Amino acid sequence: MKYKAVVFDLDGTITESGKGILHGVRYALEKLEIAEPDTETLKKFLGPPLAVSFRKFLNLTHEQALLGTNYYREKYNTEYFKESAVYQGIRSLLINLKREGAYIAIATGKPMGIAREVIKHFRLEHFFDEIIGPDENNYYDEKKEAIKAALNGEKDAVMIGDRYTDILGAQQYGIPVIAVKYGYGTEEEFRQYGADFIAEDVDSLYSLLGLEKKSLPGYFVSIEGNDGCGKSTQHKLLSQKLEEFGFDVLATREPGGTPLSEKIRGLILDTQNSSMFPITESYLFAAARAQHVREKIEPALKQGQLVVSDRFVDSSIAYQGGGQELGKDLVQKINAPAVDGNMPDTTIYLDLSYDEALNRRTSAGQADRIEQYNSLFHKRTQEAFIELLKENPDRIFRVDASKDKNTISEAVFDAVMDRLILKEKELCRL
Ligand code: TYD
Repeated sequence: MKYKAVVFDLDGTITESGKGILHGVRYALEKLEIAEPDTETLKKFLGPPLAVSFRKFLNLTHEQALLGTNYYREKYNTEYFKESAVYQGIRSLLINLKREGAYIAIATGKPMGIAREVIKHFRLEHFFDEIIGPDENNYYDEKKEAIKAALNGEKDAVMIGDRYTDILGAQQYGIPVIAVKYGYGTEEEFRQYGADFIAEDVDSLYSLLGLEKKSLPGYFVSIEGNDGCGKSTQHKLLSQKLEEFGFDVLATREPGGTPLSEKIRGLILDTQNSSMFPITESYLFAAARAQHVREKIEPALKQGQLVVSDRFVDSSIAYQGGGQELGKDLVQKINAPAVDGNMPDTTIYLDLSYDEALNRRTSAGQADRIEQYNSLFHKRTQEAFIELLKENPDRIFRVDASKDKNTISEAVFDAVMDRLILKEKELCRL
């Protein structure tokens, strides 16, 4: 690494925050009863202090600008800031920086309290040694002052930012600056203000920092539960949210996940195949899984991706081992070569009482071949899931699936995030 310390800007550098900020500006203008300008003008609001933008781009009076800022904060500081997303690749970059022993800070134009909230919301606190932005006494209003405080006076450092304010601040403090093109500034702006380096994307920051990009291990999450527990909805919500938090997510499902495995899925679930023996069924699930693991899951994990699978081998243990009464040992034996050591790091089990699951299923329309099995089959399946949960307390996490969609989604997300953060912290120390 070329530098001892790195100081980042926040909006447009760590987080893509345009959507939430513009939402807040629109809300403020609506409250002020001022017509919304065109998109180009609105985009100029991303970067400079808000009150300045109100006056400069919309010719508002000082009083109107202050009032507008207050309206903005009312919504942005409580709700809209969550509409941002962490840029892809930032989490890995921060891990790699930590592993090199770098001091990492943030110097932002965003009020310090809300900047810290954003970092906390996106579960990034463990990466940063300091976070500085303007406070209620107007300290650190100037970027130069914020950078100095964030770096604790360190000069063997580099600033990474996306607007002219970052470039000017770094120059005034006396450190080089890398301007990132993926944020809200333009190359023209970077050249005009004299950025030392320009990064096309997150990946090109490595060479500009003189930092080796080490490959990081992947992480495997599966979601399980009885038919009707709301698993597919939760799988989708979880995958989307993890992506917003900056993880490189591969969302997939079983049975299926690859073209061949989806064909096998068709065979298994086809109600016309009513003569299928339980053992045949078990081999078909394992065959679909063998293909899925080799073609998709294993390569993704090797590339450091976060795999989120809607069902995995626990479903076979529960449905074929328990439901079909083939027994856990036999189903495990059949599946060992298919799984080939690629067990999930974390599994979420969505727990819903048998009766409620049945209710939801019957109201959901046409049942597939497995769903058509009698209620005793589904009861045995659920019992087998509970058994697995007891046997694997470190891996499987139970979530009460009788609650409403949002409550379940938060519980699922928090459980997965807690484990991912532990993993990140471990990787930072290596
Ligand atoms: P899934 O696509 O999860 O169904 P749904 O979206 O309708 O909940 O799974 C299809 C069916 O296959 C489901 O009833 C569970 C069953 N299944 C097994 O019996 N064994 C397995 O190994 C897997 C992965 C699924």
